[in-house]
Amino acid sequence: MKIFLDTADVEAIRARIDSGFVDGVTTNPSIIMKSGKPFETVAREILELVPGDVSIEAMSTTCDEMIAESRQLASWGKNAVIKLPMTRDGIKALSILSQEDIRINLTMVASLNQAMLACKAGAHYVSIIVGRIDATGADGMEVVRDTRAMMREYGFDAQIIIGSVRTPNHVMMSIRAGAQVVTLGTAVFDQLYDHPLTEAGLEQFAKDWQAVENR
Ligand code: E4P
Repeated sequence: MKIFLDTADVEAIRARIDSGFVDGVTTNPSIIMKSGKPFETVAREILELVPGDVSIEAMSTTCDEMIAESRQLASWGKNAVIKLPMTRDGIKALSILSQEDIRINLTMVASLNQAMLACKAGAHYVSIIVGRIDATGADGMEVVRDTRAMMREYGFDAQIIIGSVRTPNHVMMSIRAGAQVVTLGTAVFDQLYDHPLTEAGLEQFAKDWQAVENR
């Protein structure tokens, strides 16, 4: 399983690179806005810092414009993956770009039907927005499980990215569902290491060991 960071905070990424667990980065317009930097500046910084795949989003809305913009963004780095939206134009642009060896992350996928269209059109990654689906009262992980089964059944080789991850439990459910990638905010990334039982047990061991040393 791959772990991506869902952030454009370059210092936050840099601080976690040494963990060995940052397999890539995903961004979106909101994340770029939060970075406070111009899009191209921050995107190029991340593309240089991270050896793995970095998703940067094309913001055009028509197929022709998306194609032109994606070609431009893809030239920024070998590890650039272009995010296109789950729209009719996005899917059309995806089917053309995937034949040019430009890797596309089809984003904002919220249903099995959308995931099927993304796979048929040649997506490299399919981003399922699990937390946002859950927030509507539906079950985001059901879409993930169904998509995984659909990919196996029909032999699609796209990879699922679990997006909109809100809790460490979303990560555990992603592992169980066989998703290839989770993309995490730094808070959830950091929480992967922790468990209250681990903390309490180690605290007790440290106390007991002090007693042994004081004998
Ligand atoms: C993924 O494609 C999305 O850009 C991202 O994970 C969405 O996260 P959010 O729901 O926290 O904005």
